[in-house]
Parts: sequence; structure tokens; C-alpha cells
Amino acid sequence: MDLVKRFRIDQTYSISSFERHNEFKISLLNLFKTINHSSKMIDNYYTEKITKYDWPEKNNSDREWVKLIAPALCEKLIPMINKNGFDQFDITSIWFQQYHRGDSHGWHIHSDNLAGIYFLELPSTVPPTQFVNPINLKSIINTEVKEGDVLLFPSNIIHRAPLMTTDERRTIISFNVKLGNLCNWVLDNLNNPSKKREY
Ligand SMILES: [Fe+2]
Repeated sequence: MDLVKRFRIDQTYSISSFERHNEFKISLLNLFKTINHSSKMIDNYYTEKITKYDWPEKNNSDREWVKLIAPALCEKLIPMINKNGFDQFDITSIWFQQYHRGDSHGWHIHSDNLAGIYFLELPSTVPPTQFVNPINLKSIINTEVKEGDVLLFPSNIIHRAPLMTTDERRTIISFNVKLGNLCNWVLDNLNNPSKKREY
């Protein structure tokens, strides 16, 4: 007998173009050139092969590239977080990842409330981030992202960066977000359901 019943609840993810992408792209890529961490874990169920990343430094806010992008990224995130119903948030960790041919990041989840990805380099031949449908835990959802986009999604959504099969490069900045207070408009909606805000 199945003692666990699952009930369906909708989840959302958000995509928004970072207006200042061209202002930061080259400077960030130049700063990444000086970093030489990589990752290679391969077994029957999980593959993580990333040519360059700085995951081990993810909590270090003194990195030059973090100091460069953090203020603008936080500014970018404010309306995205608000749209999700929250008016306070913290970026609890942030790191970059560069993928070349043969690289991939297998199915995984993040900590905290939301996971974010800023697509610093995403040539059209490179596959987008993929989600697992949380309802059936089987079908795959391709996100419709392009270079310069910021993607925000619930941290428990299983996702991956598919295998790179081109000679172009994929560079992302990934981060985790801890949410704070609800926005007043959400509380208004809940307290005055007849005045519900359009989604
Ligand atoms: Fe991830």
C-alpha cells in the first residue's frame, strides 16, 4: 500500500534580461581568466565536469568579480524577487562556471529558497538549463533562456546543464537566494481576495 500521497501545487520560474549585460560581460570574463579551479566527478548516476569554476570560494564576497557585479545584480533581482511576492532577500552564495566541449553538470538541486543563473555566455548552439518536471519527476523542461538573461527558480527544482557538444563556451554565474519578508501586495491579496492583483 502506498502510504505517501503527493498533491499537485504549481511552481513558477522567472526569466528577465539583464539590461547591463554588455557593460559587465568582458570585464567578468577577463577576471575569470585568473581562476583555475575545475571539477570532475563521474559515476553511473551523476556527472559534473566543469572546465573552470570557483565553487570553493562561493561564500567569499572579497572576490574582484563579485565586487564588480554584486551591486548591479542585486538591483536587477529586486523586481524579479518582488514579482515572486517577496521584498527582502540575501544572496547567500555566488560562483561562476565555464563549460567547454564535453562538460556537463548533472541533475542536482540548490540550497536556500531560490536558485539563480545569470547567463554570461550562451551561444545559440549551447543547450539551455533543463528542469525535471516536479509533478512526474520524469519529463524534462527546456528553459527558454538566452545570453544576458537571469533565471530564477525554486531551489528544490531538479535541474542540469546538458552535455556541451560544440566548441563554443558556456559561462554562467550561479547564486542562491534566501527570501525575507512577503510584499505588502501579497498580504493585501490574501486579506482582500476580491481585489486580487493580476498575475
Ligand atoms: Fe545548479
